[in-house]
Amino acid sequence: MVDAKPVLLLVFSLFLLCLLSITNGVQCFSEKKVVLSLKEFQWKQNGEAPSCLSQKSRRLKGTTILEMTHRDYCSGKKIKDWNKKLQTRLILDDVHVRSLQSQLRNRVHLAADESKVEIPLTSGVKLQTLNYIVTVELGGKNMSVIVDTGSDLTWIQCKPCRLCYNQQEPLFNPSSSPSYQSVPCNSSSCQSLGFATGNSGDCGGNPPTCIYAVSYGDGSYTRGDLGRETLNLGASSPTVKDFVFGCGRDNKGLFGGASGLMGLAKSDLSVVSQTSSIYGGIFSYCLPSTETGSSGSLVMGGDSSAYKNLTPISYTKLVSNPELPTFYFLNLTGISVGGMALESSSSSVSANKGGILIDSGTVITRLAPSIYKAFKAEFVKQFSGYPTAPGFSILDTCFNLSGYQEVNIPTVTMHFDGNAELNVDVTGIFYMVKTDASQVCLAVASLSFENEFGIIGNYQQKNQRVIYDIKDSKLGFAGEPCNFE
Ligand SMILES: *[C@@H]1O[C@H](CO)[C@@H](O)[C@H](O)[C@H]1NC(C)=O
Ligand SMILES: *[C@@H]1O[C@H](CO)[C@@H](O)[C@H](O)[C@H]1NC(C)=O
Ligand SMILES: *[C@@H]1O[C@H](CO)[C@@H](O)[C@H](O)[C@H]1NC(C)=O
Ligand SMILES: *[C@@H]1O[C@H](CO)[C@@H](O)[C@H](O)[C@H]1NC(C)=O
Repeated sequence: MVDAKPVLLLVFSLFLLCLLSITNGVQCFSEKKVVLSLKEFQWKQNGEAPSCLSQKSRRLKGTTILEMTHRDYCSGKKIKDWNKKLQTRLILDDVHVRSLQSQLRNRVHLAADESKVEIPLTSGVKLQTLNYIVTVELGGKNMSVIVDTGSDLTWIQCKPCRLCYNQQEPLFNPSSSPSYQSVPCNSSSCQSLGFATGNSGDCGGNPPTCIYAVSYGDGSYTRGDLGRETLNLGASSPTVKDFVFGCGRDNKGLFGGASGLMGLAKSDLSVVSQTSSIYGGIFSYCLPSTETGSSGSLVMGGDSSAYKNLTPISYTKLVSNPELPTFYFLNLTGISVGGMALESSSSSVSANKGGILIDSGTVITRLAPSIYKAFKAEFVKQFSGYPTAPGFSILDTCFNLSGYQEVNIPTVTMHFDGNAELNVDVTGIFYMVKTDASQVCLAVASLSFENEFGIIGNYQQKNQRVIYDIKDSKLGFAGEPCNFE
């Protein structure tokens, strides 16, 4: 039998230690904390960024694993002012979310009215917040494209181009590809456009072909004709014949030098649906933490031996939102900070019946004002004693940590229906507004209104395997140090 006395003594001395610590201004509770090393918690700032062209891929047991890189690491040039870069990202994220909210609202109203109002909008403004790039092969040509779980239509810039932004790879030329075919106006693919993009297909040209248009609400857009082409998602991967995509003849926006965009949302036109006979309607990604500069991966297919997760995968069901069927919604049931559940969380979190959107194109997670308020209060309570700093843009809970080498920060966990958990990585809790750590902010923001849609942003998804299973309508999370190699 174990003698209880030493244990009691230990507990008592810990208690004494706590009392002493409190007088020194140090917190002492049983809250769960993680160590954040402030020196390492910075974007790698030295050297020239390599280019994102011709990223790698490999095959493993029926899956295709694509190297995925944050585009700030592959702009091909050196970033001069990192403070400005980090701050601009927040401002753009604000624009992105405002625009996304108005699009979601419009779509909901459209569905409610059942009127056929033409709105020049589609799922998700992308701008510079869509950060991750992969390389695929279309018609035998390498195309580096932005990955987007918030939209369906894959498109690339095509020759002849009426208006094209600058891209790093040569423009795709359909007339020199024997496998290219244009899509007729009366095809079912053309009819799917309305559902997938919010704009129904048009008929134009001679011979008549299906014209698509995707507008991003902020002035950026792509417009062109729908085509079919042979797609290879990666080296030695099965060929996808007659893949339907947008051949963009008129494209404007900040697409960051990529050749186009790859749509991973839920409709028939998305890459997931079009490749489901090969990959079973399952894909997953691991977004690298920006500090390490390593690549992440996009895995097409569901064989779990392609993952390197350290914790078991926990699944939650995808919430169907009939008015917004192409988006991925989850049932968030609670949030805990330092292992403590937010008081208001169970009631107000699930009050949002539409669910919370998980989006690769939003940077910072957005919570309803009442939930954010409770979250912030608990975080500040557990992370007290540090000098505060002014807020910046959407972030209002900031600290001056320039006097510290490392800090212990409360853990953040999001809970979902079915006992699934997203344990936010230590690099996803704070955002450095200034690289000298004099303005480091809690990386979660409040929505403007209670009835807007909550969003889980990509910043809080870092170093996680996030598995989208459309076939079984579920989504999984597991901790994974992202690395393509
Ligand atoms: C296409 O990309 C692969 C790597 O994904 C690379 O090995 C190959 O050289 C590239 N081809 C061209 C023509 O750039
Ligand atoms: C589309 O129109 C063409 C001729 O204009 C016709 O041959 C074809 O059968 C039509 N396809 C469908 C699916 O209606
Ligand atoms: C941040 O803290 C450091 C050291 O504690 C101090 O020297 C500096 O003036 C502070 N910066 C701001 C902007 O308050
Ligand atoms: C969300 O989960 C809660 C708790 O499990 C459940 O009571 C509620 O019905 C779920 N909501 C939806 C829309 O599935």
